[in-house]
Amino acid sequence: MKKIIYTFFFIALISSCNSDQKSPKTNDKDSNKTTKTMSDDHNHDRLDTHSFAEPEVAKATHLDLNIDINFETKSISGIASYDIKTSNGANEIIFDIHEMEIQKTTVDGKEISFEIKKGNEFGEALHIPISDHNKNVSITYKTSPEAEALQWLRPEQTLGKNHPFCYTQGQAILTRTWIPVQDSPGIRITYDATVRLPKELLVVMSATNPMEKNNTGEYKFHLDKAIPPYLIALAAGDIYFSPLSDRTGVYAEKDMLKKAVYELEDMEKMVVAAEGLYGKYAWERFDVIVLPPSFPFGGMENPRLTFATPSIIVGDKSLTSLIAHELAHSWSGNLVTNSTWDDFWLNEGFTVYFEYRIMEEIYGKDYANMLKLIGFQDLKNTIADPEISKEDTHLKLNLKGRNPDDGMTDIAYEKGHLFLEMLENTYGREKFDAFLKNYFTDHAFQNMTTEKFIDILEKDLIQKHNIGKDINYKEWIYGPGLPDNCPVIEADQFAKISKGFTAWTEGKTKLSDLGSDKWTTHEWLHFLREIPNDLSERKMKQLDDAFHFTNSTNAEIQDIWYEKAVYTNYTLAFDKMAEFLQSVGRRKFLTPLYKAMKSSGKLDLAKEIYAKARPSYHSVATNTMDELLGVGE
Ligand code: BES
Ligand code: ZN
Repeated sequence: MKKIIYTFFFIALISSCNSDQKSPKTNDKDSNKTTKTMSDDHNHDRLDTHSFAEPEVAKATHLDLNIDINFETKSISGIASYDIKTSNGANEIIFDIHEMEIQKTTVDGKEISFEIKKGNEFGEALHIPISDHNKNVSITYKTSPEAEALQWLRPEQTLGKNHPFCYTQGQAILTRTWIPVQDSPGIRITYDATVRLPKELLVVMSATNPMEKNNTGEYKFHLDKAIPPYLIALAAGDIYFSPLSDRTGVYAEKDMLKKAVYELEDMEKMVVAAEGLYGKYAWERFDVIVLPPSFPFGGMENPRLTFATPSIIVGDKSLTSLIAHELAHSWSGNLVTNSTWDDFWLNEGFTVYFEYRIMEEIYGKDYANMLKLIGFQDLKNTIADPEISKEDTHLKLNLKGRNPDDGMTDIAYEKGHLFLEMLENTYGREKFDAFLKNYFTDHAFQNMTTEKFIDILEKDLIQKHNIGKDINYKEWIYGPGLPDNCPVIEADQFAKISKGFTAWTEGKTKLSDLGSDKWTTHEWLHFLREIPNDLSERKMKQLDDAFHFTNSTNAEIQDIWYEKAVYTNYTLAFDKMAEFLQSVGRRKFLTPLYKAMKSSGKLDLAKEIYAKARPSYHSVATNTMDELLGVGE
């Protein structure tokens, strides 16, 4: 609620500062639609329902961003200046904004009044009048402390404890909260940026990056390859760089840097493996920044600079498939980009398939199979979840009027992967790899709809290699659940673990005889997933005494163990769980734990822990948890 009020506040404020405007009198949807604009004439169904931009009328092609980062006021302010391309008769250009203050707009250097039209809970539309011969518009703005893309960390929330930290998260539709932008994944821009911040800090972006601090506190960035706006990203803090190879390296706070360098040692190998599969890496450098623990995702594929959670730095390199995943996005997502969030599976399904291929290449089939089986189990749980509608288990989604976050389920990731694996099995690896490589090359730096992909699939795979078999792609893409020709995923190692677990619960074997001394994270995860929700407290204690799960420092293991502890009411783990929930912010870890507490009659405990942990979570995480627990600001 607070957010909505804030939005209205800004609209009212801006309109009243801007004398040419009519201020909205009511909160009525169309109340301030007074001027007839080109967009009113375009009564078309928009392809991307999550953006107000009308790129077919006037499109931004290059951004020149000139900003200051102010940690005291928790705001970014400055000028976003765009080169624009107009179509005949264009009379305005529309940008997406959300909860930001627009101070001034100019067109080809001349100040022009703008209009902000009330949108929906995801943003407002900034209309700037232009003519079709105009070449540039610039927008002077300031972000709100509520801007959802931005997280501001106080010094005590960082490892070093001495300096603040700030980072952005653009995907899916949050870039509009920190830059006024045509925020649709179907639009691409290049960018330059000049960023000023306190001299003790370093700032990095999804662009050419500095490798060390300078003494001016001003940094320049450049990206000459066009990207969708959700990939514009920035992180600022007391961070340092360490190279891993000529074209890969790590940024992190000082105390994390050494550990990260060890953990991510194989990054160059991953880039080589990926290039061997689907063609040259297009972005020159591949660096990773390890962020503070409140980062709400595992990883984010910002071009040239992947953002990663510190929870993958566990000391044994067992969670680096996440890096392979973000690297794979350098092709699927960053080169060929989903046109709308309804086509999200084109980004994530292809990326998961590619991730597993990279891991297979470097660590072998058995390892890749373990990853696949873990993913497959997640998928089966998602499909069986009564809270997910049948339509949301289609690959192609319909997210109109909804938060694109709703589409961020295992369906896009794992069902998407299985669809491609089915194609690989049907046509053979050689033919399918050739198809994929051409797909990435032919459509590089373009956007892709599901329907366009189907045309390509028909032409370049199905009709090209007529094998006389129906692959049933329509059911995969437009139908629910898993079709009959879904590949079977098996991992021998996991089958052994399941057997061992059952034998132990039946008293037929000892925990010390399971052969666990050679297990790595994924074997442990599989073992822990075998724990039934009604296992006795006594047996939970036996497991804990033998393997010390409660005191684990591996977040993946902690997460599933604490979840099982909640369901089995193994209270001895609750203090550590509370500590865990206050120290990590990755939504994938938070959701199952709060959900488990809620559904096992421990809502009070959940709320008590959440009240303490909430201030350190990112808005992406609090949005989900607020709804789950029925609480809010
Ligand atoms: N691009 C996603 C993260 C994302 C998706 C952010 C949608 C916002 C909206 C990223 O590539 C991703 O999938 N991350 C996963 C890790 C991966 C190994 C499955 C995550 O964060 O858990
Ligand atoms: Zn991804």
